[in-house]
Amino acid sequence: MTTPTPTQDQLKALVADAALAHVPSGQVIGVGTGSTVDLFIDALAAAVAAGRLQVPGAVSSSERSTRRLQGHGIAVVEAATVERLAVYVDGADEIDRHGHMIKGGGAALTREKIVADLAARFVCIADASKLVDVLGRFPLPVEAVAMAVPQLVRRFAALGGRAVPREGVLTDNGHPILDVHGLRIADPLAMETEINQWPGVLTVGIFARHRAQVCLLGTLQGVQTLVF
Ligand code: 5RP
Repeated sequence: MTTPTPTQDQLKALVADAALAHVPSGQVIGVGTGSTVDLFIDALAAAVAAGRLQVPGAVSSSERSTRRLQGHGIAVVEAATVERLAVYVDGADEIDRHGHMIKGGGAALTREKIVADLAARFVCIADASKLVDVLGRFPLPVEAVAMAVPQLVRRFAALGGRAVPREGVLTDNGHPILDVHGLRIADPLAMETEINQWPGVLTVGIFARHRAQVCLLGTLQGVQTLVF
């Protein structure tokens, strides 16, 4: 009898569980956003309920994650009250073999980068479809001030990208998102640095300065741990 191939959701659940081993008991942690993180929050809550972990609180990167954490009875701590987090657990839309990521598919990139900046260690949880050689197949999310959008569309066109406003979406911070198609991000650090300079850009979804230190990748062979 052949074993059924795990689905993408099962691979996400696998890495969500595996991330618990990276959570220091008794400390406030940073929590990202997305379907993989939803499963991580559920696993975290189950571990707390079973007495396997103590989690005094979490700094959340979105209203979505805040609701889920609080729904499980996990206290949400304001980022402004925290100086340092030992660990931040989050997903990614793409990750390369150096831990650079594209993030923001769930429109939470600004708060994600803020919480990642507080953390000593970024643990990325992702199914194997997210691992790429070069970032850019996934359209690059950019959170921007609305009045800058037409100029940013022109600037991305000059880089060879087609920036499309994400329809019907405003971030938790009340700003629009552009999704930039067709970029090949060969040097993530340089491109992040360049786009950060453009007036009206709040956050570019390249996480190179805030890259992952560890990626738990859900593969057909099980969880693969990549250390960067
Ligand atoms: C949200 C993000 C997410 O981490 C990213 O979109 C991955 O999401 P998922 O776990 O649902 O695949 O950056 O802004």
